[in-house]
Amino acid sequence: MTDDSPAPDDGLRPDGGAGTDTEADAEGADEVALDPWGSSSVDDYRKLFEEFGIEEFDEILEGVPTPHYLMRRGVIFGHRDYRPVAEAMRDGEPFAALSGFMPTGDPHIGHKLVFDEIIWHQQQGGDAYALIADLEAHSARGLTWDEIDEHSRNYLLSLLALGFDPEEGELYRQSDNREVQDLAFELGADANFSELQAIYGFDGETDVSHMQSVVTQMADILYPQLEEPKPTVIPVGPDQDPHVRLARDLAERMRFFGVTTAYASFEVTDEELPHLEAAYDARAEYAEDPELPRCVEAAEWLSANRTAGGAVESAVSKLENAGMEPLRPRTRFLDRRATEAAFEGLIEAIDGEKRVFEGHVDAFDLEREAAETLAREVELEYDGYGFLPPSSIYHRFMTGLTGGKMSSSIPASHISLLDDPEDGYDKVKSATTGGRETAEKQRELGGRADECPVYELYAYLLAGDDDEFAKEVYDECVGGERLCGDCKEQAAELMREFLADHQEKREEVEALLEDAEIELESPRQG
Ligand code: TRP
Ligand code: SF4
Repeated sequence: MTDDSPAPDDGLRPDGGAGTDTEADAEGADEVALDPWGSSSVDDYRKLFEEFGIEEFDEILEGVPTPHYLMRRGVIFGHRDYRPVAEAMRDGEPFAALSGFMPTGDPHIGHKLVFDEIIWHQQQGGDAYALIADLEAHSARGLTWDEIDEHSRNYLLSLLALGFDPEEGELYRQSDNREVQDLAFELGADANFSELQAIYGFDGETDVSHMQSVVTQMADILYPQLEEPKPTVIPVGPDQDPHVRLARDLAERMRFFGVTTAYASFEVTDEELPHLEAAYDARAEYAEDPELPRCVEAAEWLSANRTAGGAVESAVSKLENAGMEPLRPRTRFLDRRATEAAFEGLIEAIDGEKRVFEGHVDAFDLEREAAETLAREVELEYDGYGFLPPSSIYHRFMTGLTGGKMSSSIPASHISLLDDPEDGYDKVKSATTGGRETAEKQRELGGRADECPVYELYAYLLAGDDDEFAKEVYDECVGGERLCGDCKEQAAELMREFLADHQEKREEVEALLEDAEIELESPRQG
């Protein structure tokens, strides 16, 4: 997460209802940059879907058993591959949630979103992990170890105060987790400089420790799966998406076997697959011996019966090349990086008819899903990791209280969890709003809750789990019944209360932190 958080482009929902569109929705000409160490700007969240392939959270909301209010209100707006996590949650299967914090300053209300997300997953039965990214803070931000220790303590106290259970979950710091470092080393063997250059813009001046902090984060992300593979969600801001994508890639690269579907000796792309399927299903129409359709026969049928297109054409030419080879569906295991013993073990483990080739095995009596499971089982048996690609969820950045970005260099723009409750009160009182110039206009036109940092405070934090309250604020605002003065007074009082309560809880969890298995003082120098 970066502190420089831009304004969201469209409205937050006060409740589980439909999204509230605003004029800002129509703009959308702005830049989207996802830079984990820069100031990430997301002026148009839709671009994250279109350009980066992040999926809309709303589409899977129904599949989440008892969604968190941040999910219900659209604060968590996007995800990658969250379905397996939601499924595991529903079925009572193992799953995990992990996120990391760079201890660069005080924890603020933006970090609270992530703390809450981890805690919620823990309460839903997941294995929860929170880590202190001290290596990253030292290498990418140049913090000293003393500074890091002080900030880390503050992050951890807030996390515990908000409800993280350190006995059920795990807390660690990157520098002190040997398993993470070992895994980072292994993963680093599969990533090279050109790749980091392309993803992060690293160049000849980038120091080696910074690169090491990247593979460390990759290891963090996969760490919950070291004992056994399980769906794992990484709750973060969208600026961390490049890391998530690389981690998903590396997880896949570490796998011993690839599983694909094929119809003959040649490899098939996902686009070609449906055409081959259709040709196989229609075999009775064209094959001289329907028990044994030939590839050439299928090629002929395909070019006569399917609208031409890239995938059809390439499928046809592959079929033609295969000539008299029989066309027959099979599940294929590709040997990617298995040891000889593991490959032999796989062959042994396949039931039913199979054919062994150089570098792959075809199984004729095995469904794709069963094949995936088998491949993972064999991999684990032969000391592989068997990683599932990690999932992620993304939350919106909060708007600064002074309008524009929330920035740690402008104290009035953000609220630290350590702010004196009176200061918190004052900051809210002097916040920018989405109100009109005069009370009369506000009564007539209604306020612009969708563009109001104060409304955001209600939706992200102050209304808590109470959807009705959030909706009431929203409706009253846009309906012109609510005026900014009173609205801010109410928000400011709630903020004061929240901070006082949170800080009291921080004191109460001091002992819990002392007992937790995390190194609070680094022995490092510099
Ligand atoms: N890079 C993250 C940040 O800047 C911190 C981090 C380190 C992290 N390891 C992680 C986040 C693993 C999520 C998962 O804040
Ligand atoms: Fe924002 Fe409240 Fe004013 Fe509406 S009434 S614009 S929510 S401060």
